[in-house]
Amino acid sequence: MSAMKAIQTRANDLCFAGSPAGKGLTTALALSRADIIDTVRDSKLKGRGGAGFPTGMKWNFAAAEKREPKYIICNADEGEPGTFKDRLILTDYADLVFDGMTIGARAIGAPLGLVYLRAEYKYLQHHLEEVIKKRQASGLLGKNIGGIEGFDFDIVVGLGGGAYVCGEETALIESLEGFRGEPRNRPPFPVVSGFLNRPSIVNNVETLAWAACIFANGVEWFKQAGTENSVGHKLFSISGDCDKPGVYQFPFGVTIEELLKAVGGDNAKAVQVGGASGRCVPRAGFGRTIAFEDVPTGGSMIVIGPERDMLAVARNLLDFFVDESCGQCTPCRLGNRKLLDGVEMLMAGTCTIEYLNDLKALGNTMQVASKCGLGQTSSVAMLSILENFGDEILGREQTA
Ligand SMILES: Cc1cc2nc3c(=O)[nH]c(=O)nc-3n(C[C@H](O)[C@H](O)[C@H](O)COP(=O)(O)O)c2cc1C
Ligand code: SF4
Repeated sequence: MSAMKAIQTRANDLCFAGSPAGKGLTTALALSRADIIDTVRDSKLKGRGGAGFPTGMKWNFAAAEKREPKYIICNADEGEPGTFKDRLILTDYADLVFDGMTIGARAIGAPLGLVYLRAEYKYLQHHLEEVIKKRQASGLLGKNIGGIEGFDFDIVVGLGGGAYVCGEETALIESLEGFRGEPRNRPPFPVVSGFLNRPSIVNNVETLAWAACIFANGVEWFKQAGTENSVGHKLFSISGDCDKPGVYQFPFGVTIEELLKAVGGDNAKAVQVGGASGRCVPRAGFGRTIAFEDVPTGGSMIVIGPERDMLAVARNLLDFFVDESCGQCTPCRLGNRKLLDGVEMLMAGTCTIEYLNDLKALGNTMQVASKCGLGQTSSVAMLSILENFGDEILGREQTA
């Protein structure tokens, strides 16, 4: 384990800064395709987009598929409220992301990579395309990359559909194909049938950058940080009621308390971990660690100061989900609306204990009955607020 060290960017001391463009790719291209996948598996790299799926396993599934062509997709939708770390990576370390995509393409045999860029990040499109042009000119993209006969690969950038759900990998693929961004039924998973119904891997921006770093610096270097089940460092987007919001790098296993100290948020009463779809951790839980096996996050940490009204926090988050539900399935389409109405009743003092219990049951049902991750997680924050701030919430006079 490395010593706990917080690194606030834009500094050049992020791990990414020690991995020059092209270095990881050159190392990877000297390996067989099977060895590339084994290296990623050995590193225990897990996806940084939120779900923490093992990257080597994902690449292996796609590599094993026979149908062609295959595709690698970089998920740069970054729509989770409070998340902005991918924007920084794309701005300062685009080459690393493209190295990671090219390594993944070599591993699974994909001739084309697609970057699905959040519509609000349109200003980054020109920058990314310039980096791509330079890579084409220097032979890092194009035909026979690295002198490997038949390894042809190129990358294009497409703009997102402007909806939160378009970050969900199957909705993203629908949107990339030119359709309305609505989640597909799974299975089949994208590794079997993704873009244009061909085997596709979808990886987060940060995951791809780490993949390149692993080849540039070695598996042992990567494994020096983190915990047994959450290896390496993680980038965090930290915002809200703290003195020094920004993008930070910490090793997995950092406690919420350590993280708050680094950003000047020591007096917080709660932290919303993982964006709108994550859980709200109260002060009593600040000793918990950020790790897939404890409190997981795709990187968003919203600090909630002592003066905040927790029902107002819940209302704000549910309002977001009511807007962003794609409407395909009933538990999410109606459930979020009902939860929001319930929070407003609580705020108005007109919610009975019986109805509050019904709301909790509804939130739990949505988690199992919704079609995609949006509806499966949209009640998490509200339920954790009800669980941890019951005194504050029920302390309001209910007149019903
Ligand atoms: C509603 C919703 C929005 C999502 N938004 C993003 C996103 O903006 N970026 C991202 O990388 N993953 C997002 N995901 C997760 C993706 O579906 C997918 O798991 C991820 O891109 C896989 O990459 P990884 O394995 O590298 O983490 C979202 C999931 C859901 C359910
Ligand atoms: S859970 Fe919500 S966002 Fe997902 S498919 Fe159902 S309605 Fe759409």
